[in-house]
Amino acid sequence: MRTTQARLAAAAALTSGAVAITCDKASLQSAFPSIATVDFAEWLPANSTFNVPKADIAYPVSPTQLRAACAVQVSVKNGTSNYGFGVFLPDDWNGRFLAVGNGGFAGGINWLDMAAGLGYGMAVMSTDTGHNSTTSNGKWAYHNEGALLDWGYRAMHGSTVLAKQLTTAYYSNPILYSYYSGCSTGGRQGLRNLQLYPEDFDGVVAGAPAWWTNHLQPWTTKIGTYNLPNTSAHHISPALFPVIGAEVMRQCDGADGVVDTIISNPNACDFNPDTLLCTPAKNQSMCLTPPQLSTLRQIYSDYVDTNQTFVFPHLWLGSEAQWVLLSGNQPNNLGDDYVKYFLNRGPQWQWQDFDYGVVQQADAEDPGNATADDFEALSAFNARGGKLLHYHGMGDGLIATGSSVYLYSKILETLAPKGVNLDSFYRFFLVPGMQHCTGTANTVNAPWYFAGANQAATLSTSVSGVPGFRDAKHDVLLAMMEWVEKGVAPTEIIATKWVNDTLQDKVMRQRPLCMWPKKQKWSGKGDVNEASTWSCE
Ligand SMILES: *[C@@H]1O[C@H](CO)[C@@H](O)[C@H](O)[C@H]1NC(C)=O
Ligand SMILES: *[C@@H]1O[C@H](CO)[C@@H](O)[C@H](O)[C@H]1NC(C)=O
Ligand SMILES: *[C@@H]1O[C@H](CO)[C@@H](O)[C@H](O)[C@H]1NC(C)=O
Ligand SMILES: *[C@@H]1O[C@H](CO)[C@@H](O)[C@H](O)[C@H]1NC(C)=O
Ligand SMILES: *[C@@H]1O[C@H](CO)[C@@H](O)[C@H](O)[C@H]1NC(C)=O
Ligand SMILES: *[C@@H]1O[C@H](CO)[C@@H](O)[C@H](O)[C@H]1NC(C)=O
Ligand SMILES: *[C@@H]1O[C@H](CO)[C@@H](O)[C@H](O)[C@H]1NC(C)=O
Ligand SMILES: *[C@@H]1O[C@H](CO)[C@@H](O)[C@H](O)[C@H]1NC(C)=O
Repeated sequence: MRTTQARLAAAAALTSGAVAITCDKASLQSAFPSIATVDFAEWLPANSTFNVPKADIAYPVSPTQLRAACAVQVSVKNGTSNYGFGVFLPDDWNGRFLAVGNGGFAGGINWLDMAAGLGYGMAVMSTDTGHNSTTSNGKWAYHNEGALLDWGYRAMHGSTVLAKQLTTAYYSNPILYSYYSGCSTGGRQGLRNLQLYPEDFDGVVAGAPAWWTNHLQPWTTKIGTYNLPNTSAHHISPALFPVIGAEVMRQCDGADGVVDTIISNPNACDFNPDTLLCTPAKNQSMCLTPPQLSTLRQIYSDYVDTNQTFVFPHLWLGSEAQWVLLSGNQPNNLGDDYVKYFLNRGPQWQWQDFDYGVVQQADAEDPGNATADDFEALSAFNARGGKLLHYHGMGDGLIATGSSVYLYSKILETLAPKGVNLDSFYRFFLVPGMQHCTGTANTVNAPWYFAGANQAATLSTSVSGVPGFRDAKHDVLLAMMEWVEKGVAPTEIIATKWVNDTLQDKVMRQRPLCMWPKKQKWSGKGDVNEASTWSCE
């Protein structure tokens, strides 16, 4: 890797021969090859709102109180590849580049997550992934190989390459460091990108990654079928989910040594669902029948199919408050649309037709080449000095937390025998009580905020970083920068929970997240809500 000094020398050389580019459409266009067209460019004075174009149905919320910046949107046509991306170029640029990710099947530019990155002074890019749709709509993929490949990996790479060219031209300076931060599909995009294009980013932060696409999506349908049809005796009404969640809390909260509404070690809990069984003495709307208990046992079991083949891990104890995959009258679209439109079974396909053949087809085809399972390829990312931070909430009800633990173990199994010390470039953190990417149930109140992807948007449209705690101890992106730029690797990241999750409120709790496989341990003295009373062991 080049030293900062070498980078600065290169910067000086570049500045001397540069032609200035300004924040207008024609000028910015000159930074691009003919495949890219600038749709618009708009300079935003400090404290502006960026009004997201109405056409962006995936990410309609407009970020507010921005740093002064040039907002640019670009369209690209490159053979069968067709995508767009947005860029914020701050007036007071700090020499860094950040790409942010998307969610689910969404096709659109994620301006809100870009704004959180802009707050650090970085040039920030988001791709629309090559199509136009909301998060849970997969119809665009039907017999559309080009759009699938764009979603799978091409749009992220192409957008990154072009946005870096734009950044370099706009500032007449090379980029000092490049980063990536995304969650869910965004986590997958980061992992897929570093597997295919290890040179794109110096540091990748991947949250709750939807990395195992060809198993995750079929599992999403499979788990939905456990609780269907809604007229059957085995159906558990969503009204009972809080009852189940409360019983899990009662039995499992103390398994980590502290009763504090946060289940930090769900796998240490020997949960007995039979305590929920209906008896005549019980309130019949707050208990489960024997067939319902069977459904509950399935929900907490791995999906294993023909010949004992492990397909996907189960949701964890403590995820009940986010059981959206189990609450509909049919499975979630993120499962069914994948089968219908990514595997091309067609709109008439229905969940009642689900069988192991779906998983086998997904394995064989891997639509869009999206699945980020090229563990071997992390060697190249490591060799070029890349760093990877990975995290996952234990209360995630959309992507089973165990899929991240499994990812870690697959990477370990692949690289450790070759003598690679994973800690030197890849670190994984579990987040007790956090739901999918962001937030915590109001019965749990776990510290969940550390400026990961999508998190700022949960607090407000104007937040960037960790207000009140702008340092590498509390902010995962700053932690990544310290690692890449100063060689200081994070061993813990302190997560924050504000009362009511608004910035006017005071801090309720802080607690360190531990580097896997370490676990949080309370000292037994002082306030459990203070980070300093905890350690990772
Ligand atoms: C920034 O804009 C907000 C409204 O979006 C306004 O309330 C605030 O006073 C402005 N701050 C400054 C420093 O202009
Ligand atoms: C996306 O589709 C919607 C209709 O569903 C449309 O209103 C919008 O303009 C489209 N956006 C783009 C960028 O094409
Ligand atoms: C354009 O397509 C070519 C050929 O598929 C590919 O190698 C290149 O990365 C693409 N470039 C961009 C900017 O999308
Ligand atoms: C039974 O539980 C339901 C749901 O919590 C509650 O609305 C109802 O009042 C309870 N009935 C009795 C008799 O306690
Ligand atoms: C299961 O195992 C049997 C016996 O080895 C084999 O014939 C069959 O093809 C396997 N089925 C699948 C779906 O892998
Ligand atoms: C059950 O699902 C059907 C659709 O399959 C729906 O029409 C009906 O309203 C649902 N019933 C309940 C009680 O949710
Ligand atoms: C899919 O990715 C693999 C590397 O993981 C690559 O060898 C292959 O060419 C890709 N296929 C397509 C269609 O892009
Ligand atoms: C949090 O919200 C609750 C109910 O909405 C309210 O009663 C309480 O005052 C709020 N707490 C703070 C510190 O604002």
